[in-house]
Amino acid sequence: MLAMNYRGPYRVRVDRKPVPVCEHVQDAVVRVTRTCICGSDLHLYHGLVPDTRVGMTFGHEFIGVVEEVGPAVKNLSVGDHVLVPFNIACGQCHFCKQGLFGNCHESNSQASAVGAIYGYSHTAGGYDGGQAEYVRVPYADVGPCKIPSNMDLDDAVLLTDVVPTGYQAAEMAGIQPGDTVVVFGAGPVGIMAARCAWLFGAGRVIVIDHIDYRLDFARTYCPAEVYNFRSLEDPVVFLKKTTDSLGADVCIDAVGGDAAGSALHTLLGTKLKLEGGSATALHWAINSVKKGGVVSIVGVYGPTGNLIPIGNVVNKGITIRANQASVKRLLPRLIEHIEAGRLNPKALITHKVPLEEIADAYHIFSAKLDGCIKPVLVPPSAHG
Ligand SMILES: NC(=O)c1ccc[n+]([C@@H]2O[C@H](COP(=O)([O-])OP(=O)(O)OC[C@H]3O[C@@H](n4cnc5c(N)ncnc54)[C@H](O)[C@@H]3O)[C@@H](O)[C@H]2O)c1
Ligand SMILES: [Zn+2]
Ligand SMILES: [Zn+2]
Repeated sequence: MLAMNYRGPYRVRVDRKPVPVCEHVQDAVVRVTRTCICGSDLHLYHGLVPDTRVGMTFGHEFIGVVEEVGPAVKNLSVGDHVLVPFNIACGQCHFCKQGLFGNCHESNSQASAVGAIYGYSHTAGGYDGGQAEYVRVPYADVGPCKIPSNMDLDDAVLLTDVVPTGYQAAEMAGIQPGDTVVVFGAGPVGIMAARCAWLFGAGRVIVIDHIDYRLDFARTYCPAEVYNFRSLEDPVVFLKKTTDSLGADVCIDAVGGDAAGSALHTLLGTKLKLEGGSATALHWAINSVKKGGVVSIVGVYGPTGNLIPIGNVVNKGITIRANQASVKRLLPRLIEHIEAGRLNPKALITHKVPLEEIADAYHIFSAKLDGCIKPVLVPPSAHG
């Protein structure tokens, strides 16, 4: 089959690999019909995630048709079109039982922090991902969800990560009616978080980035007030001034370890790798939220420490909430929102590219070229 093959930082290509098979009685094999590149893949592509091995296939956002099921699988049949949450979860452990599917204790038992994620380095379990024609799906009765027959496949593929992550960012923020919500990052996740903030009753939504075409999209899609941080002398001072000097009720970090905007963090976090990524957006979030406010973090950082202003967190009485999204827990609610027309995820898709052109797609998405917001890859296998 054709599959993405990681060759080292900034180098990906498509190669031939063996078609995966069921290795365990609870496995399924899925023929991929759509798969996305995510901002999380960019952390891998930029060489920021430890133990990202040459030869790995990335891809944690995919949908496809079930081709084979192991003998213990009860909920899926060959031919079902399924969307597969990015978390690999056992469904049985202490954490899965609480709905914390992103923190499963079994699927990545070598790690004490992160659960398993498709195609996300050996720190996240070492499972090959879905930027391929076929993918092995462990615990097949737990994660995959049959795609409702009336749902557009482009909406379905965004339910594997972007929609639940944006929604959970807003949910974790504990938004109260009328709250001012600031979202750092106008990538697909930040845009979705800003859109979902309204569902929780926000009174004002502000999005900060430095890519104008993304801000323009956010202005009408979310909708939100948008600001380019390059045109602000100091984003924290600006945000304080525009909130009666109190600060925002809620700040959401939808940027993570690739953040721009501070030469110091870029040097320490992304060039020298002395920090677990550049925490510039997180600094701004902590410093521009009001006393007693909430900072909700979905941006991804590496396992080592960051120079974050913890003294300000204590002195301001800030609540910090963070996690990998628990996709499976949120799916029923999000399918309802899409069916009711309250969420329209497919509007984020700007590029639909054959899997064979994956190197170009990574480059365009990483360098923010060509108006790219969300690229979707279509493997030759999608056509049956
Ligand atoms: N927690 C989860 O479950 C989960 C799931 C998916 C993605 N993520 C993470 O969410 C983050 C966003 O993902 P994405 O797909 O939208 O990525 P993306 O790379 O498309 O978007 C990130 C955006 O942040 C902007 N940015 C850079 N520095 C900034 C700063 N200092 N302030 C404000 N904006 C800044 C960039 O210009 C870009 O538009 C990534 O860190 C990704 O790993 C987390
Ligand atoms: Zn993702
Ligand atoms: Zn589990």
